[in-house]
Amino acid sequence: MADAQARQRGGKAENGSASTESGLRHEVDGEIATITLDRPEKRNAQTFATWSELARIGENLPEQVRVVVVKGEGPSFSAGIDLRMFTPEGVPGQGSFGSVAKSEGATFEQRIRQAQAGFLWLRRPEIVSIAAVQGHAIGAGFQLALACDLRIVADDVSFCMKEPALGLVPDLTGTKPLVELVGLAKAIDICLTARTVHADEAMRIGLAEKVVAGGDLEQAVQDKIAELLATNRDAAAATKRLLQGAQGRSLEEQSVAEGVEQAARIKALFG
Ligand code: CAA
Repeated sequence: MADAQARQRGGKAENGSASTESGLRHEVDGEIATITLDRPEKRNAQTFATWSELARIGENLPEQVRVVVVKGEGPSFSAGIDLRMFTPEGVPGQGSFGSVAKSEGATFEQRIRQAQAGFLWLRRPEIVSIAAVQGHAIGAGFQLALACDLRIVADDVSFCMKEPALGLVPDLTGTKPLVELVGLAKAIDICLTARTVHADEAMRIGLAEKVVAGGDLEQAVQDKIAELLATNRDAAAATKRLLQGAQGRSLEEQSVAEGVEQAARIKALFG
């Protein structure tokens, strides 16, 4: 309880953790949280535990955090779902898709909703999430990159939505951002062929904000963080709310929403 209160105050109660089971570690440094997929020897493959831990990080994110960086250790951002989950044995301690589908208790759809919670919080208006992507971003790895607001990528990046090739659908919140970023036709092309999208195409079709040489990825992310933190925190959150709502509103409705947000800003700034 004391820890939770300290987190709410932006205290130092939780400034980092690492979990072997989830393959994740995360640190909070002032306004910046960094989540690292940290199982490079397995190309940062993801399990149920990865998604639970992602959700837990989101639930406990200190209030002062404005930027969340998601990155992967080693040559690949993430090779997607841990393929052991498709085997009868599954992942030790976590079971397999087969055992979850047959288990009593939570339905399979509920388990998927729980997994999706690890991705959805990355769109909160109060933060900007940045995926720093090098090498392979396959399946769940591609979707984790899509869950972030921005993608800064290395020139060796290769995105692949492999699920349809495996008889599955992308279900970790990736389909909507993909369509919004690249359009329906291109999203159909990318998903239904399970082809690879390399850096030049990613940049051209709007999947990536910036492409840099692999060695420059970390600096490029730091530069973007500095730009983002230079703006007013509350204005940034209000503007993100407006931008996120824009596609679902008519021009007239969006204009009204702009007025509402601006009135709140003026009141906060000038009383
Ligand atoms: N799950 C479990 N282990 C994986 C893995 C995965 N997804 N991807 C790689 N690994 C392991 C390999 O088995 C290998 O382990 P060992 O050293 O013990 O043999 C190790 O990581 C290194 O792998 P590679 O030698 O293959 O590394 P590479 O750099 O030559 O190739 C790669 C990298 C192209 C990503 C290749 O490993 C690969 O194709 N991996 C599988 C990708 C895949 O099919 N993912 C599923 C996507 S679909 C999805 O994610 C579904 C969903 O959400 C429902």
